[in-house]
Amino acid sequence: MSKVIAITNQKGGVGKTTTTVDLGAALSRENKKVLLVDFDPQGNLTSGLGIDRKRPFTVLNLLQSEVMGMPYDVHEAIVTHETDEVKMDVLPANKLLVSAEAIFNSFDGEKELILKNVLTKVKDDYDYVLIDCPPSLSLLTINALGAANSVLIPMQPAKYSLDGLADLIKLVMMAQNSFNTELEFEGIVYTLDTPNQIEARNIKQDVEDAYGANVRIHETFIPRLKDISSSPSYGVSVFDFAPSSKGAMAYANLAKEVLANA
Ligand SMILES: Nc1ncnc2c1ncn2[C@@H]1O[C@H](COP(=O)(O)OP(=O)(O)OP(=O)(O)O)[C@@H](O)[C@H]1O
Ligand SMILES: [Mg+2]
Repeated sequence: MSKVIAITNQKGGVGKTTTTVDLGAALSRENKKVLLVDFDPQGNLTSGLGIDRKRPFTVLNLLQSEVMGMPYDVHEAIVTHETDEVKMDVLPANKLLVSAEAIFNSFDGEKELILKNVLTKVKDDYDYVLIDCPPSLSLLTINALGAANSVLIPMQPAKYSLDGLADLIKLVMMAQNSFNTELEFEGIVYTLDTPNQIEARNIKQDVEDAYGANVRIHETFIPRLKDISSSPSYGVSVFDFAPSSKGAMAYANLAKEVLANA
């Protein structure tokens, strides 16, 4: 059985792309077959894994063909990222993905389920499909929620991080009540964490008080570490850049928690 996880938070720069890449890498090291979907026009996941953003065939082409009812092969768009440490497939994106909104809006059918329909064609080839969402509550994010079994929310325990979380949780609940009744919360994972700082501890307490009863808060937290921020410059995950680093260990632990919640 494959599991599709949307990695989302409309706040920018909170570690969505980093978590998609490094959690995916950690799952592949647990011998899971992994597909990463870049669903952000910034294409950071694509370039962060050393894939050329100018590739002519991306996730956008698949969405277009799906909406137009034309035949297509998802495998044509997939790129395999293989190193000594990890092996995972990637569905790349680039800035042209901004036009997806117009494509979704032009569709007469269920606009929220277009990505789901694309992924249905390949998801059984994988144990885990991780979707890296853009920093917005747009139709791209809504399509990721439509395609997902669960939602993982990376969150930096810092000032302003609680702002917007209520809107995101409301959107997930709206999805659960309408176009994806099976959708679950994978949970919140703290990223860019500075666990020794009192401010981070206070914010975690606020999150626990507000959402702890309904949303899993992962025990594993991802500290702010240079090894984690440096690896995309080399086009690899943290497991290739610094395999025995604290950053690699943190994502390996997060993968174990995700696996335990299968
Ligand atoms: N644990 C970490 N330690 C240090 N730096 C990190 C960590 N996680 C992410 N970063 C860095 O923080 C920045 C933002 O991370 P990332 O791109 O993953 O966030 P994002 O939520 O995907 O951003 P966006 O909203 O723009 O898509 C990047 O420069 C990344 O390398
Ligand atoms: Mg990102």
